Amino acid sequence: MEMPNDYAYSVRMSPMKFGVGVSREIGNDLKRMGIKSVLLVTDENLNRNTDIPKKIKGYIEQEGISVEVYDKVEPEPSYQRVNDALEVASSLDVDAFVGVGGGSAMDVAKATSLYLTHPADFFDYIGKPFGKGKPIPPGPIKPVICVPTTAGTGAETTPMASFAIPEKGIKIGFGAPNMMPALAVVDPLNTVTMPPSVTVATGVDALSHAFEAYTAVAYNARPMPRTPEERPVYVGCNPVTDVFAERAIELIGKYFRRAVAKPNDIEARSGMSLAAFLAAVAFGNAGVHINHAISYSFPYERHLPHGIAVGLCFPGTALFTAPIYPEKHLRVAELLGENTEGASKYEAGELVYNALVRLYYDIGFPNGISEYFDESDIPEFVKKASQQTRLLSAACRYPSEKDLEEIFRNSLSFW
Ligand SMILES: [Fe+2]
Repeated sequence: MEMPNDYAYSVRMSPMKFGVGVSREIGNDLKRMGIKSVLLVTDENLNRNTDIPKKIKGYIEQEGISVEVYDKVEPEPSYQRVNDALEVASSLDVDAFVGVGGGSAMDVAKATSLYLTHPADFFDYIGKPFGKGKPIPPGPIKPVICVPTTAGTGAETTPMASFAIPEKGIKIGFGAPNMMPALAVVDPLNTVTMPPSVTVATGVDALSHAFEAYTAVAYNARPMPRTPEERPVYVGCNPVTDVFAERAIELIGKYFRRAVAKPNDIEARSGMSLAAFLAAVAFGNAGVHINHAISYSFPYERHLPHGIAVGLCFPGTALFTAPIYPEKHLRVAELLGENTEGASKYEAGELVYNALVRLYYDIGFPNGISEYFDESDIPEFVKKASQQTRLLSAACRYPSEKDLEEIFRNSLSFW
């Protein structure tokens, strides 16, 4: 008997406060949540090179809340940072965590709160084969408040965290519904100090989140789960995530170049901050797929920034997914500023490809994988990417090894 397709989807997002200068209100936000003592988890470079973490600390202390700072988070953080932050948090009586920074600081804050509430060895809650795959206990963890200082990862509204395991040369991700931030404080002013290279990488990550969510398998194209519990965490694209993804792509099309060219352009920074949040709501429910699967195939030792690794094959991926949703791809091209008038559905992939390449050129994104690797590396990359079956099966079209090879070849160089 053929199973009917699924009919349901749900949408989760963090409560969010958005506005230029809104981080000034964070002490009040925390006070209203009944919080008395926090561990502020932040990035080492951010704390050294900007006054953002110090200011946030001051805004919280103004309300009589005590703040301890853990500032040893590095980019692509090692899981050891969670153990370190946990040690600090356990010695204090903290009742909440505030993550200030990019994805890494927010991820460390989320994971530290989880392990403080549900003590375990770090690898207990990590999926096999790298961890023990024990289920993360349900029930609330200590609230995590996220203050993003980049416009990209969207970690402020996803229940996931990812860490490097340096001794194994890999990165792993894990998450559970109770790791969702209790509040996202999105203040575009906190993003103006981002260097252009970080604006570029994080912005492409956000654009890819929106695109991958928009071109994920549809929620009602999967077979009906036997029980509600078996419904996947990432349900696929649906009417809500499509709205969020489209708006994110439109904002990025409008503001990305400006945010790179003029770091102090508050309107452009606001557009990018909002876009990153919207894109994260979209992918946090619909899922990401090929670009993120491919990002794991590049060697860990090269330490490519996440947004670069995700973006390198993005134009090639768009050529591959376009035949499934030509109208959606035409819409993406249009939102990114391409003239799609009178374009046929057969041109949809190429129009997105061209829109991305033009954007990449203007913002100074690397000119394809040949800037880092040789053509002869492609077979190895294909092998690694094809192992990411969970991610790949979230795409509207499942790429075979031959398809992946074509995606890599179409992304060797763009101009
Ligand atoms: Fe990402």
